Amino acid sequence: MTRGILYATLALGFLALCAMAGAIRTAAPAQAAEAVRARSLGQANDPKDCLNCHDDPKVTGVLHTPHGVKGDPATAFTTEGCQSCHGASEAHMGRPRDGEARVPPEVVFTGPHASAVATRNKLCLNCHQTAAADHWQGSAHASADVACTSCHASHPSKDPVLVKTSQAPICFTCHAEQRAANLRPSHHPVIEGVMTCGDCHNPHGSDGPNLIKTGTVNDLCLTCHDEKRGPFLWEHAPVQEQCTICHTPHGSVQARLLKQRPPYLCQTCHEETLHNSQPMSGNTLPGGATPSRIIALRACLNCHTEIHGSNHPSGIRFAR
Ligand code: HEC
Ligand code: HEC
Ligand code: HEC
Ligand code: HEC
Ligand code: HEC
Ligand code: HEC
Ligand code: HEC
Ligand code: HEC
Ligand code: HEC
Ligand code: HEC
Repeated sequence: MTRGILYATLALGFLALCAMAGAIRTAAPAQAAEAVRARSLGQANDPKDCLNCHDDPKVTGVLHTPHGVKGDPATAFTTEGCQSCHGASEAHMGRPRDGEARVPPEVVFTGPHASAVATRNKLCLNCHQTAAADHWQGSAHASADVACTSCHASHPSKDPVLVKTSQAPICFTCHAEQRAANLRPSHHPVIEGVMTCGDCHNPHGSDGPNLIKTGTVNDLCLTCHDEKRGPFLWEHAPVQEQCTICHTPHGSVQARLLKQRPPYLCQTCHEETLHNSQPMSGNTLPGGATPSRIIALRACLNCHTEIHGSNHPSGIRFAR
């Protein structure tokens, strides 16, 4: 009899515990919409195993990226979930022993536990070898041990480096010189979000110099500044040779991205004695003959307006 009561009490107690556990479970935070969606994602390595502990929207954002697409076998999210990037990570999911820290996942991309760059890149390259990264091997960034995830973030619903307005600040974290140049008065409209570094460079690697997208600098500039292409009846030799003889691509204190101000720019090649441009030299003092037009305002360009080349029959001096 007493034994019967004991059993009944135990059974009741057990039921009560179950009910409490159930209540706790239903009241548990955060298993809202995300977890429901996550649960429907697939069976093996269900991301909900991770999402049980990682329900921060900063983390669950990955479910809304191309990587989180359910049913696309290429993303592997259907079958491997979070583990397709972070590795199986079984030890991480277990309970840490008293006084011990939690074992990090097999692949960590940021922070003090970050895996070796080679490990991280290999993981991304498993799937992206052919598409984005066909120039990657041996490129400036690969050789300098830059990680894919130094530029790319996988969890925000839109990767900031793929967004015009947020790309340059990511590049500037390492390229301070180009940042300084872009803040000068004359610059390509990159910080304004009209253009990106990626309009001129392929950060993954390229056949051209300095990671530029085209084989030569002139081909690059002429894709957007076609009117400078010619052919002209009268060509100006340095223009045909390389735009960056006179212009700097990133920014300048001189107007029009010029490396120097005319007349000095022109006089790096053309003898100053040709048209004297010394405002205060002996032969330009009162009575001397420096036409102010050579130094003032547009200097040489006051007369030689067609500096990139001329199609006028008598444009041999680029004056028309
Ligand atoms: C039982 C709870 C739990 C589970 C399940 C879990 N994590 Fe974690 N995870 C944590 C905690 C707690 C931390 C913070 C650890 C710390 O700060 O030391 C963490 C940290 C991380 C970090 C950052 C590691 C670092 O050192 O910066 C990553 C990445 C991560 N988890 C991914 C995952 C993935 C992927 C899964 C599923 C395979 C997963 N976690 C499953 C509790 C969990
Ligand atoms: C299991 C395969 C797989 C792995 C691992 C993987 N990706 Fe992807 N990734 C894909 C697929 C599939 C797409 C969607 C199709 C596409 O754009 O090529 C994609 C898309 C992308 C995109 C374009 C996103 C967009 O918004 O358009 C970027 C950037 C990217 N991945 C970077 C990475 C980085 C960085 C890593 C390593 C942290 C990585 N991927 C790991 C398969 C993978
Ligand atoms: C130096 C910064 C940087 C690094 C490092 C980098 N990427 Fe990218 N990635 C970019 C930029 C910028 C774009 C956008 C290019 C564009 O708009 O033409 C991009 C685009 C992509 C895309 C989308 C391509 C498409 O056509 O939609 C994928 C996928 C990608 N990167 C994968 C990788 C992988 C994998 C690695 C490492 C092997 C990597 N990236 C390293 C900056 C980088
Ligand atoms: C495409 C590869 C990829 C997938 C899939 C992926 N992650 Fe990540 N994870 C990353 C990268 C890269 C980072 C570094 C931060 C970033 O890029 O946003 C990261 C960072 C983290 C962090 C640390 C965040 C922080 O701010 O400290 C956690 C936690 C995490 N991931 C958990 C998960 C969970 C949970 C899933 C599945 C729902 C998942 N990851 C799926 C690539 C991935
Ligand atoms: C209008 C095209 C264009 C844009 C936009 C552009 N670059 Fe460049 N970049 C070039 C050219 C051309 C060179 C080669 C320089 C030369 O030949 O003098 C170059 C060279 C570089 C170099 C090599 C060092 C140097 O200055 O010569 C780095 C690093 C660089 N660019 C980073 C960036 C970053 C970061 C951005 C975005 C903020 C960016 N570039 C935007 C065209 C561009
Ligand atoms: C994590 C740091 C880092 C980030 C972020 C980064 N770079 Fe670089 N970049 C480097 C390093 C290191 C090199 C190789 C050393 C050098 O030439 O300065 C390099 C080289 C380059 C070069 C070639 C320079 C040359 O002399 O040939 C260009 C162009 C360039 N980066 C553009 C970019 C662009 C565009 C972005 C943003 C999409 C970017 N980088 C983001 C670190 C970075
Ligand atoms: C992807 C397109 C693109 C490429 C490539 C490009 N530019 Fe530009 N360039 C622009 C745009 C857009 C402007 C701004 C036009 C405006 O403000 O009206 C501009 C403006 C200029 C200006 C005038 C700047 C000023 O302050 O008035 C010069 C000079 C110039 N570019 C030279 C070059 C040179 C040299 C190259 C090659 C290294 C080049 N561009 C490559 C798009 C491009
Ligand atoms: C010999 C020096 C020199 C070379 C080389 C040169 N430019 Fe210029 N460029 C100038 C000068 C000087 C100006 C300013 C013209 C003015 O203010 O009327 C200018 C202005 C510009 C402008 C802005 C004003 C306009 O006319 O649209 C663009 C864009 C431009 N150059 C593109 C190029 C391109 C593209 C190349 C290479 C094919 C190139 N430049 C080569 C000297 C040069
Ligand atoms: C990098 C050197 C270089 C720079 C800088 C340069 N030029 Fe030239 N320029 C040349 C060369 C080379 C020729 C062709 C000379 C020849 O055919 O004898 C030329 C030809 C000319 C001609 C036609 C003269 C002739 O004999 O046919 C004029 C005018 C001219 N340049 C003006 C300018 C002006 C103005 C500037 C500054 C905006 C300038 N140049 C900058 C190298 C340069
Ligand atoms: C006031 C107008 C004017 C200004 C300003 C001017 N030039 Fe000239 N330039 C001319 C004329 C006109 C000729 C043609 C002279 C001739 O054919 O004998 C000429 C000829 C030239 C020639 C060809 C000389 C030769 O021997 O065939 C060059 C090179 C030249 N200028 C460069 C420059 C440079 C560089 C500057 C700025 C320092 C400049 N010019 C400023 C009007 C000007």
